[in-house]
Amino acid sequence: MLFDKFGRQHTYLRISLTDNCNLRCFYCMPEQEYAFAPPSKLMQPHEIVEIAQTFVEQGVTKIRLTGGEPFVRKDADIILAGLAQLPVELTCTTNGVRADTLLPVIKAANFSSINISLDTLDAQKFHKITGRDLFNRVRSNIDLLLKEGIRCKLNVVVMKGLNDDEILDFVDLTKERPLEVRFIEFMPFSGNKWTSNQVFTLNEIKEVIKQRYAIHAQAGDIHDTAKRFQITGHQGSFAVISTMSEPFCAGCNRIRLTADGKLKNCLFSTQETDLLSAFRRGEPILPLIEANIASKAYALGGQLDKDYMQIDADQLENRSMITIGG
Ligand code: GTP
Ligand code: 5AD
Ligand code: SF4
Repeated sequence: MLFDKFGRQHTYLRISLTDNCNLRCFYCMPEQEYAFAPPSKLMQPHEIVEIAQTFVEQGVTKIRLTGGEPFVRKDADIILAGLAQLPVELTCTTNGVRADTLLPVIKAANFSSINISLDTLDAQKFHKITGRDLFNRVRSNIDLLLKEGIRCKLNVVVMKGLNDDEILDFVDLTKERPLEVRFIEFMPFSGNKWTSNQVFTLNEIKEVIKQRYAIHAQAGDIHDTAKRFQITGHQGSFAVISTMSEPFCAGCNRIRLTADGKLKNCLFSTQETDLLSAFRRGEPILPLIEANIASKAYALGGQLDKDYMQIDADQLENRSMITIGG
C-alpha cells in the first residue's frame, strides 16, 4: 500500500495521456509555442494499463485521465477499454471540445463523472483565454453531457480582473442544472505569469455569492480538493478549490503520472521518477513508486508553504500545467 511518511495513503492516480491540447489557455500552456512530446516518449496504451495495474494492486481505487486534453489522443478509446478492465473508479478532466464527436466513447467508458474546464460564459473572453473560437461548442457539449445523464463538474479558474465578475453567472447555471461548479484559485506554474494579486480567494468568492444567496456548507471528505456549498432550491451546487489561501494537503491521497511516464507525488513537487523508462527496460517499478511517495513533502511540494502573497512565481521549480495534467 502506498503510504507516505505522514501516514497518508495514496489511492487516487491522475494519469496524463498527452501534453497536447486543442486549446491554448494562457495560464496552462507557456506563451511561446513549445514542442509537444514526440509519440515515442508518450506512454502507449498497454504501458498505461500495465503501469496503472501496479498502482491498483497497491490500493489505488480511483484513476483520473487528464492532459493536456486527454481526448486529442486518437487511441483514447483503446486506453479507456484497457483501463475499464481494472477495478477502479474512472474519471476524466477535459475541455469538452470533442465531447460531441466522442460521445459514444465517453458513454462506453462509464465515467463516474466528467470534470469540464470552462472559465467564462462570454464567447469573446473565451477566445481571449483559450486562443480559439470554440465557446459555443463547449457550452452546448456541457448540456449534451447533462442530457445524457452524465454527472458533470465545471472547473472555473478565477482570475482577478478577468473573470471574477462572472461568478454569479456561473452560480446561476446551477439553478436548473444538476451541475457542480467549482471555482479554482489561480495557481503558479512555469511560464503562466502568475502574480499573487490575480488570486481571487475562497473568502472573496463566498462574499460575492453571499451578496445574492444564502449559502450552506456541505460536509466533505478529508481527501476532497473542493469545499462544497449548496443554495436552497438549486438543482446543482458550487464548490471552491482553495490551494493558495487554504490548502488541503493534510488529506492528500493523490499521485500523478505525466504523459511521458514520470511519477510526480505533488502538483508542486520537484523530484520526478521516470517510471516509463524503467518499465521499458523491464525493471520492477514498485520500488521506484514507493521511494517516490516516501519522499513526498507534507504540503505543496515543500515549495509554496508560506503566505501565498509572498510567493515569487519565477523562483518556483516546476513544469507548466499542460505537462503535469492538473
Ligand atoms: P474530483 O476527483 O472530481 O474531486 O476532481 P479533482 O479536483 O481531483 O480534479 P480536477 O482535475 O477536476 O482538478 C480541479 C482543480 O483542482 C485543478 O485546478 C487541479 O489542478 C486542482 N487539483 C487537483 N488535484 C489537486 C491536488 O492534489 N492538489 C492541489 N493543490 N490541487 C489539485
Ligand atoms: N491554476 C488553477 N487551475 C488550473 N488549471 C489549469 N491551470 C491552472 C492554474 N494555473 C485547471 C484547468 C483544469 C484543471 C485540470 O486544472 O482549468 O480544469
Ligand atoms: Fe497533495 Fe501537493 Fe495538492 Fe497538497 S498541493 S493536496 S500535497 S498534490
